[in-house]
Amino acid sequence: MLIAPSILSADFGKLDSEIRAICDAGCDLVHVDVMDGHFVPNLTIGPVVVGAVAKAASKPLDIHLMVQNNTFFTELFAPLKPKYLSFHIEEEKHPHRLIQKIKSYGISPAITLNPHTPPQSIEYLLEELDMVLVMSVNPGFGGQSFIPSTLKKVEILRKMIDSAGLKTLIEVDGGVNDKNVSALKDAGVDIVVAGNYIFGSSSYKSAIDSLRV
Ligand code: DX5
Ligand code: ZN
Repeated sequence: MLIAPSILSADFGKLDSEIRAICDAGCDLVHVDVMDGHFVPNLTIGPVVVGAVAKAASKPLDIHLMVQNNTFFTELFAPLKPKYLSFHIEEEKHPHRLIQKIKSYGISPAITLNPHTPPQSIEYLLEELDMVLVMSVNPGFGGQSFIPSTLKKVEILRKMIDSAGLKTLIEVDGGVNDKNVSALKDAGVDIVVAGNYIFGSSSYKSAIDSLRV
Protein backbone atom coordinates (compact mmCIF):
# COMPACT_ATOMS: atom_id res chain seq x y z
CA MET A 1 0.00 0.00 0.00
CA LEU A 2 1.31 3.45 -0.90
CA ILE A 3 0.63 6.26 1.59
CA ALA A 4 -0.28 9.87 0.76
CA PRO A 5 -0.73 12.07 3.86
CA SER A 6 -3.27 14.85 3.30
CA ILE A 7 -1.73 18.12 4.46
CA LEU A 8 -5.21 19.51 5.17
CA SER A 9 -4.74 18.23 8.73
CA ALA A 10 -1.19 19.60 9.10
CA ASP A 11 -0.33 22.56 11.34
CA PHE A 12 -0.26 25.38 8.76
CA GLY A 13 1.65 27.57 11.20
CA LYS A 14 4.67 25.36 10.62
CA LEU A 15 3.89 23.93 7.22
CA ASP A 16 7.50 23.65 6.09
CA SER A 17 8.53 21.40 8.98
CA GLU A 18 5.28 19.40 8.77
CA ILE A 19 5.97 18.58 5.11
CA ARG A 20 9.58 17.65 5.85
CA ALA A 21 8.43 15.46 8.76
CA ILE A 22 5.97 13.36 6.72
CA CYS A 23 8.50 12.95 3.91
CA ASP A 24 11.19 11.88 6.41
CA ALA A 25 8.65 9.52 8.00
CA GLY A 26 8.48 7.62 4.70
CA CYS A 27 5.32 8.69 2.91
CA ASP A 28 5.13 8.05 -0.84
CA LEU A 29 3.22 11.13 -2.02
CA VAL A 30 2.14 14.44 -0.48
CA HIS A 31 -1.62 14.87 -0.99
CA VAL A 32 -2.70 18.50 -1.47
CA ASP A 33 -6.41 19.41 -1.28
CA VAL A 34 -7.32 22.43 -3.38
CA MET A 35 -10.83 23.74 -2.60
CA ASP A 36 -12.46 26.79 -4.18
CA GLY A 37 -15.42 27.48 -1.87
CA HIS A 38 -17.84 26.69 -4.75
CA PHE A 39 -17.55 23.02 -5.62
CA VAL A 40 -17.13 22.29 -1.92
CA PRO A 41 -18.11 24.43 1.09
CA ASN A 42 -14.50 25.10 2.10
CA LEU A 43 -11.55 27.08 0.83
CA THR A 44 -7.92 26.01 1.10
CA ILE A 45 -4.72 26.97 -0.65
CA GLY A 46 -3.56 28.35 -3.98
CA PRO A 47 -0.37 28.08 -6.03
CA VAL A 48 1.70 30.35 -3.74
CA VAL A 49 1.31 28.07 -0.72
CA VAL A 50 1.38 24.87 -2.79
CA GLY A 51 4.64 26.17 -4.29
CA ALA A 52 6.07 26.35 -0.77
CA VAL A 53 4.82 22.81 -0.13
CA ALA A 54 6.52 21.61 -3.31
CA LYS A 55 9.77 23.22 -2.19
CA ALA A 56 9.69 21.54 1.23
CA ALA A 57 8.62 18.13 -0.09
CA SER A 58 11.14 15.46 -1.01
CA LYS A 59 8.25 13.28 -2.28
CA PRO A 60 6.04 13.95 -5.32
CA LEU A 61 2.84 15.98 -5.00
CA ASP A 62 -0.61 14.50 -5.53
CA ILE A 63 -2.92 17.48 -6.14
CA HIS A 64 -6.64 16.87 -5.61
CA LEU A 65 -8.73 19.62 -7.22
CA MET A 66 -12.15 20.24 -5.65
CA VAL A 67 -13.09 23.20 -7.82
CA GLN A 68 -15.59 24.39 -10.41
CA ASN A 69 -13.24 25.55 -13.14
CA ASN A 70 -10.91 22.61 -13.65
CA THR A 71 -9.15 23.98 -16.72
CA PHE A 72 -8.29 27.26 -15.00
CA PHE A 73 -6.92 25.48 -11.92
CA THR A 74 -5.02 22.94 -14.05
CA GLU A 75 -3.19 25.81 -15.78
CA LEU A 76 -2.53 27.43 -12.39
CA PHE A 77 -0.99 24.34 -10.78
CA ALA A 78 0.73 22.67 -13.76
CA PRO A 79 3.95 24.75 -13.37
CA LEU A 80 4.42 23.15 -9.92
CA LYS A 81 4.83 19.79 -11.69
CA PRO A 82 2.82 17.51 -9.38
CA LYS A 83 3.07 13.79 -10.12
CA TYR A 84 -0.74 13.43 -10.13
CA LEU A 85 -3.44 15.99 -10.80
CA SER A 86 -6.99 14.81 -10.16
CA PHE A 87 -10.27 16.51 -10.99
CA HIS A 88 -13.86 15.62 -10.06
CA ILE A 89 -15.89 14.01 -12.86
CA GLU A 90 -19.07 15.57 -11.42
CA GLU A 91 -17.75 19.03 -12.31
CA GLU A 92 -16.33 18.45 -15.79
CA LYS A 93 -18.21 18.58 -19.11
CA HIS A 94 -15.18 17.63 -21.22
CA PRO A 95 -13.12 15.20 -19.16
CA HIS A 96 -11.39 13.59 -22.14
CA ARG A 97 -10.14 16.97 -23.34
CA LEU A 98 -8.93 17.94 -19.85
CA ILE A 99 -7.07 14.64 -19.49
CA GLN A 100 -5.15 15.41 -22.70
CA LYS A 101 -4.33 18.88 -21.36
CA ILE A 102 -2.97 17.45 -18.09
CA LYS A 103 -0.87 14.94 -20.05
CA SER A 104 0.51 17.73 -22.25
CA TYR A 105 2.22 19.13 -19.13
CA GLY A 106 3.86 15.76 -18.39
CA ILE A 107 1.55 15.24 -15.37
CA SER A 108 -0.27 11.97 -14.66
CA PRO A 109 -4.04 12.52 -14.96
CA ALA A 110 -6.51 11.19 -12.40
CA ILE A 111 -10.28 11.44 -11.99
CA THR A 112 -12.03 11.67 -8.64
CA LEU A 113 -15.41 10.09 -7.89
CA ASN A 114 -17.69 11.47 -5.18
CA PRO A 115 -19.40 8.91 -2.91
CA HIS A 116 -22.55 8.82 -5.10
CA THR A 117 -20.75 8.59 -8.46
CA PRO A 118 -20.72 5.16 -10.10
CA PRO A 119 -17.40 3.81 -11.44
CA GLN A 120 -19.19 3.05 -14.72
CA SER A 121 -19.34 6.82 -15.33
CA ILE A 122 -15.64 6.74 -16.27
CA GLU A 123 -15.58 3.41 -18.14
CA TYR A 124 -14.60 5.02 -21.46
CA LEU A 125 -11.96 7.22 -19.83
CA LEU A 126 -10.17 4.55 -17.80
CA GLU A 127 -7.54 3.75 -20.42
CA GLU A 128 -6.52 7.44 -20.44
CA LEU A 129 -6.02 7.61 -16.67
CA ASP A 130 -3.05 6.81 -14.45
CA MET A 131 -5.18 6.85 -11.31
CA VAL A 132 -8.78 6.96 -10.08
CA LEU A 133 -9.37 8.71 -6.74
CA VAL A 134 -12.38 7.27 -4.92
CA MET A 135 -13.79 9.58 -2.24
CA SER A 136 -14.72 7.71 0.93
CA VAL A 137 -16.16 10.86 2.54
CA ASN A 138 -17.99 13.86 1.11
CA PRO A 139 -15.25 16.20 -0.10
CA GLY A 140 -14.59 19.41 1.78
CA PHE A 141 -13.22 18.55 5.20
CA GLY A 142 -10.72 16.34 6.97
CA GLY A 143 -11.61 14.19 9.97
CA GLN A 144 -14.88 12.67 8.69
CA SER A 145 -15.99 9.04 8.99
CA PHE A 146 -15.30 6.50 6.26
CA ILE A 147 -18.36 5.65 4.10
CA PRO A 148 -18.60 1.82 3.97
CA SER A 149 -20.08 1.56 0.43
CA THR A 150 -16.66 2.70 -0.83
CA LEU A 151 -15.43 -0.89 -0.53
CA LYS A 152 -18.04 -2.21 -2.98
CA LYS A 153 -17.23 0.60 -5.40
CA VAL A 154 -13.51 -0.15 -5.26
CA GLU A 155 -14.15 -3.85 -5.93
CA ILE A 156 -16.17 -2.98 -9.05
CA LEU A 157 -13.54 -0.52 -10.24
CA ARG A 158 -10.76 -3.05 -9.65
CA LYS A 159 -12.60 -5.58 -11.85
CA MET A 160 -13.11 -2.95 -14.57
CA ILE A 161 -9.41 -2.03 -14.56
CA ASP A 162 -8.13 -5.61 -14.44
CA SER A 163 -10.49 -6.95 -17.09
CA ALA A 164 -9.42 -4.16 -19.43
CA GLY A 165 -5.77 -5.11 -18.80
CA LEU A 166 -4.95 -1.62 -17.51
CA LYS A 167 -2.41 -0.42 -14.95
CA THR A 168 -4.58 2.43 -13.58
CA LEU A 169 -4.06 2.85 -9.84
CA ILE A 170 -6.88 3.19 -7.31
CA GLU A 171 -6.53 5.76 -4.53
CA VAL A 172 -9.01 6.16 -1.66
CA ASP A 173 -9.42 9.43 0.26
CA GLY A 174 -11.28 10.11 3.49
CA GLY A 175 -11.58 8.54 6.92
CA VAL A 176 -8.73 6.09 6.32
CA ASN A 177 -7.04 4.62 9.41
CA ASP A 178 -5.33 1.46 10.68
CA LYS A 179 -8.75 -0.19 11.23
CA ASN A 180 -10.03 0.00 7.65
CA VAL A 181 -6.82 -0.08 5.60
CA SER A 182 -6.71 -3.90 5.33
CA ALA A 183 -10.23 -4.06 3.92
CA LEU A 184 -9.24 -1.39 1.42
CA LYS A 185 -6.21 -3.42 0.41
CA ASP A 186 -8.37 -6.53 -0.04
CA ALA A 187 -10.81 -4.57 -2.20
CA GLY A 188 -7.96 -3.58 -4.53
CA VAL A 189 -6.73 -0.17 -3.39
CA ASP A 190 -3.15 0.87 -4.31
CA ILE A 191 -2.82 4.22 -2.49
CA VAL A 192 -4.51 5.58 0.64
CA VAL A 193 -4.81 9.25 1.56
CA ALA A 194 -4.87 9.92 5.30
CA GLY A 195 -5.03 13.31 6.97
CA ASN A 196 -6.40 13.26 10.47
CA TYR A 197 -5.06 9.79 11.22
CA ILE A 198 -1.44 10.69 10.40
CA PHE A 199 -1.26 14.32 11.54
CA GLY A 200 -3.28 13.54 14.66
CA SER A 201 -0.80 10.91 15.82
CA SER A 202 2.23 11.51 18.03
CA SER A 203 4.54 9.64 15.63
CA TYR A 204 4.06 10.25 11.91
CA LYS A 205 6.34 7.32 11.16
CA SER A 206 4.34 4.83 13.27
CA ALA A 207 1.09 6.08 11.73
CA ILE A 208 2.45 5.72 8.18
CA ASP A 209 3.92 2.28 8.99
CA SER A 210 0.57 1.12 10.41
CA LEU A 211 -1.07 1.83 7.03
CA ARG A 212 1.56 -0.12 5.11
CA VAL A 213 -0.47 -3.32 4.68
C1 DX5 B 1 -11.48 15.81 1.89
C2 DX5 B 1 -10.06 15.68 1.42
C3 DX5 B 1 -9.24 14.66 2.10
C4 DX5 B 1 -9.12 14.84 3.57
C5 DX5 B 1 -8.77 13.52 4.16
O1 DX5 B 1 -12.16 16.64 1.03
O2 DX5 B 1 -10.04 15.35 0.04
O3 DX5 B 1 -7.96 14.54 1.49
O4 DX5 B 1 -8.18 15.81 3.93
O5 DX5 B 1 -8.70 13.70 5.53
P1 DX5 B 1 -9.04 12.54 6.57
O6 DX5 B 1 -8.03 11.45 6.35
O7 DX5 B 1 -8.87 13.25 7.86
O8 DX5 B 1 -10.44 12.07 6.30
ZN1 ZN C 1 -8.13 14.84 -0.94
